[in-house]
Amino acid sequence: MVVMAQNCPNIKVIVADINPKQIQRWNSKELPVYEPGLDDIVVKVRGRNLFFTTDVDAAIKEADIIFVSVNTPTKKFGIGAGRAANLKNWELAARHIAKVATSDKIVIEKSTLPVRTAAAMKKVLHASQSGVKFEILSNPEFLAEGTAISDLQNPDRVLIGGETTPAGDAAVAKVVSIYSKWITNDRILTTNLWSSELSKLTANAFLAQRISSINSISALCETTGADVQEVAKAMGMDRRIGKYFLNASVGFGGSCFQKDILNLVYLCETFGLKEVAAYWDQVVIMNNWQKKRFSMKIISSMFNTIAGKKITLFGFAFKKNTGDTRETPAIDVSKYLLAERASLTITDPKVKSDQIRKDFDEYDVLPEGVKFEELVSVESDPVVASCGAHAICVMTEWDCYKTLDYKAIYDSMAKPAFIFDGRNILPHKELMEIGFKVFAIGKPYGAEHIMNE
Ligand code: UDX
Repeated sequence: MVVMAQNCPNIKVIVADINPKQIQRWNSKELPVYEPGLDDIVVKVRGRNLFFTTDVDAAIKEADIIFVSVNTPTKKFGIGAGRAANLKNWELAARHIAKVATSDKIVIEKSTLPVRTAAAMKKVLHASQSGVKFEILSNPEFLAEGTAISDLQNPDRVLIGGETTPAGDAAVAKVVSIYSKWITNDRILTTNLWSSELSKLTANAFLAQRISSINSISALCETTGADVQEVAKAMGMDRRIGKYFLNASVGFGGSCFQKDILNLVYLCETFGLKEVAAYWDQVVIMNNWQKKRFSMKIISSMFNTIAGKKITLFGFAFKKNTGDTRETPAIDVSKYLLAERASLTITDPKVKSDQIRKDFDEYDVLPEGVKFEELVSVESDPVVASCGAHAICVMTEWDCYKTLDYKAIYDSMAKPAFIFDGRNILPHKELMEIGFKVFAIGKPYGAEHIMNE
């Protein structure tokens, strides 16, 4: 919406939310999300043609087009728990629009939704029999966090799905005309509603599948002596495969991949496609295994006992350039290490201590009866965080970790000093020359190999 307001000065964009705290932050200097380049644009367009408000009713009444962008997390209860998307917020939003609207509207699904949700949305919207007409479109968002602004300014494609009726076509054309203010027409793709809904789920599933595929190969590399980065480079140079999303890692995180695959799996099961469901489920299973495998490697390399040892996590966000911690692999790794009663020091340039505490509560990261302060501390400076540590584990690929003075860090650590690089971003050879025992994902040198020398 922010980028739309920037590129379409003649369009009034209203962002309405029932949460006053969020809106207050959107109207303040400290925005509720960190995203490179976002603050600059908001400062330029806020109050010009971009407005943040809690007056949802007035915004609904005034709008010709409504983008519904509520979150659709994985259901935690009832039918489809742990897999299906929770559509409560979305249905509440649709009911509210139906109740308040006094003129015809185009209603757009911006949130990722299961296929054929638009059919249900249509029923909800038209249930009030107020005579107001709603045209439902699907316009999924493909931006990635950390690069959101450039992804929105210059997307690979914008996808708009609508009903194949004259009214549907007219609504699609209206939305196309907005995006074409800053995106060339060859990148604006129009489809039927169901193709659009399904494309979003499958795009995320394919991207995540590439990561699980290369992560599965990383395990093979570690046992055979191959180097996963060399293998990925050799594979990726084949134009049919391509080089993107082949970085082996401690596992993928973020609000989308796991949720969308589980949702896809649930859809397939619902439609009786057992084999298809099992195929995609394996992507998540592999991801969970990778997080566990990395944690077990830490424990086994450190002589199978980490109780009372200080382990420093470099990074807590699910990727660099964001403060977002949803589904971050750091949560799983913390849980495995704390189960062994390691003492964790966590550092991240954008994740605050409060957020880590919240995540630890929500995901039951602490062992039963253990308080946060007993085993966990948060420190903003990675050099201070490493002092006295037995091991450093790189959880997030923040650039700032690449250029630290590792000699000084080594000198301040307990010996043997271990580095477990879950993102393959550090200069491993140099670190080994300093004296570190280094383990990295899919690399032919594991810390326990070195120990066995
Ligand atoms: C993703 C999709 O890329 C985006 O199109 C969609 O709209 C939302 O979901 P996002 O979750 O923001 O975006 O980040 P992405 O860059 O895709 O990374 C997801 C996770 O995969 C991160 O944890 C990242 O570190 C990991 N990853 C990514 C890898 O482990 N290896 C890779 O090669 C790429």
